Amino acid sequence: MGGTFQNAVLSAKGRRTEEPPIGWLMNLALSRPGLISLAAGFTDSATLPAAETRTIAERILNRPRSARAALQYGSTFGLDELREITARRIYELDRQAVAAAEEASPGSGAVLPAKEAYAPKRVLITNGSQQLLYLATEALCDPGDIALLEDPTYFVFLGIAQSFGLRCRGVATGPQGVEPEALEAALDRIERAGELDRVKLLYLVSYYQNPTGRSASWEAKRRVAEVLARFERKLGRPICVLEDAAYREMGFAPGGAPSMLCAPGGPERTVYSGTYSKPFATGLRIGFGLLPPGLFETAGRLKNNHDFGTANFQQHILAEALRSGVYDAHLEVLRRRYARKARWMARAIAANFPPEAEWSPPSGGMYFWIRWPRRMRVGPGSRLFREALASDVLYVPGRFCYAKDETRKIPDREMRLSFGNATRREIEEGTARLAAAARKVLARGGYGKS
Ligand SMILES: Cc1ncc(COP(=O)(O)O)c(C=O)c1O
Repeated sequence: MGGTFQNAVLSAKGRRTEEPPIGWLMNLALSRPGLISLAAGFTDSATLPAAETRTIAERILNRPRSARAALQYGSTFGLDELREITARRIYELDRQAVAAAEEASPGSGAVLPAKEAYAPKRVLITNGSQQLLYLATEALCDPGDIALLEDPTYFVFLGIAQSFGLRCRGVATGPQGVEPEALEAALDRIERAGELDRVKLLYLVSYYQNPTGRSASWEAKRRVAEVLARFERKLGRPICVLEDAAYREMGFAPGGAPSMLCAPGGPERTVYSGTYSKPFATGLRIGFGLLPPGLFETAGRLKNNHDFGTANFQQHILAEALRSGVYDAHLEVLRRRYARKARWMARAIAANFPPEAEWSPPSGGMYFWIRWPRRMRVGPGSRLFREALASDVLYVPGRFCYAKDETRKIPDREMRLSFGNATRREIEEGTARLAAAARKVLARGGYGKS
């Protein structure tokens, strides 16, 4: 009956939209209270800014004028003050990053675009950056269009791509982020198949990537822009880069490469996506995008259809946190906290994991990416996954982070570990349990299916 109902009533998009593969992992974690989850991408609960948010909320609500402004509908595009602060912050991050890139390597090719590229009128405030990713895809893509994605990538974006009926092409990544040669080879293949005009976007998580923790170097970004420019000349239009900078502010030390806006042609092709969710409070659900003209208006109209504006009260809270310095002070606390947690996890991995595991500690964000020997399997049907579960520890099988792309095989020997919301005990105990499970499986030599 359920199936008949679906086929008879649901739209093509409704039918395409599948249960996220990660959903059952989260349910598993919730249903077993003793389980240590190194799977969830939750932020550190202990440091959420509860007292600061209460003080700000009271300040807003205590004055009738600000209370009424915050409790009334806002504008579709977002609170003007928040859009101004956001534009200024992105500009400042890029200004510093371009100066550092030029100092490290004069003639780096990083150029800070004119201030117009960072105009507040190009900033759209959204319900988390998740909504921005959705809106940008909705504005750009039709079913059957091609999206280029990193191998591996942020798995939630895969859900968006699938829902829109996009055809995904995975592009190899390495320690420096997406590999320009692999991008070029992928575009060459698509062109030979006569489908270049279906390529709409390249999605990059370029800072402390979820899931690998790696950042794209400026050199890689510059070369990616050159590759895109070569194909854009043939198409006579930009290939959009959807640059997801969700973790940009979450480096353990200052620094980081300039955004794709600073590459030649950057402002015309880059949709820059960011969030106040991870660096401040995920529950406030405030994200943002900086979009090229034309696309900005379209995404705004689509957002109007979705919700005609992000929750105004939360925007007022964020604007006040940013204006008063509370946000930056909190960010410093978080950076130190995550750096410490990453050190705990690195030490636990180094002490417990068999030498066959390949990994390197991240310098920001909240993830470790582990690669096992070729013969190992780590997917949900694997012996390792079952052993880990029997020892009450959970990880994200890396295969969930690869797009469906029939032109290449999905590896099944990688996993993502998160230290975001785990306590020190959970990090140490969970890592040790996982290591014991892996040793057991490796010793037995049979690894099961994916
Ligand atoms: C890479 C990446 N992008 C975007 C998001 C969405 O975050 P939010 O909607 O809270 O801004 C996340 C959340 O985990 C993420 O890891």
